[in-house]
Amino acid sequence: MSRTSLLAGNWKMHTTTSEARQLAAAIANQPAPSNREVLLAPPMTALAVVGETVKNSNVLLGSQNICWEEQGAFTGEISPAMLKDVGGSMAIIGHSERRAIFAETDSLINQRVQGALKYGIIPILCIGETLEEREAGTTMTILEGQLRAGLVDTPLTSGADLVIAYEPVWAIGTGKTASTAQAQEVHLFIRGLLADIYQKDIADQIRILYGGSVNPANVDELMAQEDIDGALVGGAALKADSFLRIINYQ
Ligand code: 13P
Repeated sequence: MSRTSLLAGNWKMHTTTSEARQLAAAIANQPAPSNREVLLAPPMTALAVVGETVKNSNVLLGSQNICWEEQGAFTGEISPAMLKDVGGSMAIIGHSERRAIFAETDSLINQRVQGALKYGIIPILCIGETLEEREAGTTMTILEGQLRAGLVDTPLTSGADLVIAYEPVWAIGTGKTASTAQAQEVHLFIRGLLADIYQKDIADQIRILYGGSVNPANVDELMAQEDIDGALVGGAALKADSFLRIINYQ
């Protein structure tokens, strides 16, 4: 089963608009190898400028979160219509920082996933266990709970409409990466769950990204794994040379 790999940069709360324009231009000016997609997810203030910058390239634009309504009294949120207005097509949802720092719950995250799909935005649903959970041996239980809860009442006609990101919380921004064997084991487990929630043919189409200290030195080995279909990159996506190296993994 060949899935188009997706290399996504989550810029988190970084970049002024001029920094964002410069970084996006550096990425967009270097076409990715065929059968690879590249996504930039800048902060909200830079969505429009990055959208403009990548408009005539193959680089895709995404947001770091998304509301389930098109407009209304939702202070601090942006809607699928607003994202589409600036050229966006995907949204990161349920990132561990949203869950841990901003208390986003599985049911809120599920609402966001449903809303994104309803309005034609591809959700990138993030799941991941903490170090305590891994050490307690509950990794798979935690991941299964997050995945099933995030996908409640979320029918799919094509696996291309959904992306899952596995980001072990202990590997985010720490320089610690899950070993490729650990990551592949989890990705295979997630694909099995997706086959149970949907059907095998849909599960085989869904891209499962790995995230957590992905960098130029470890990307090749991660991307060589059967069920790792891409990367969700934080720190190493903030410099053009390192993100370009990641996009051009071997
Ligand atoms: P780092 O690549 O900085 O570890 O961040 C990963 C991440 O959280 C991407 O969403």
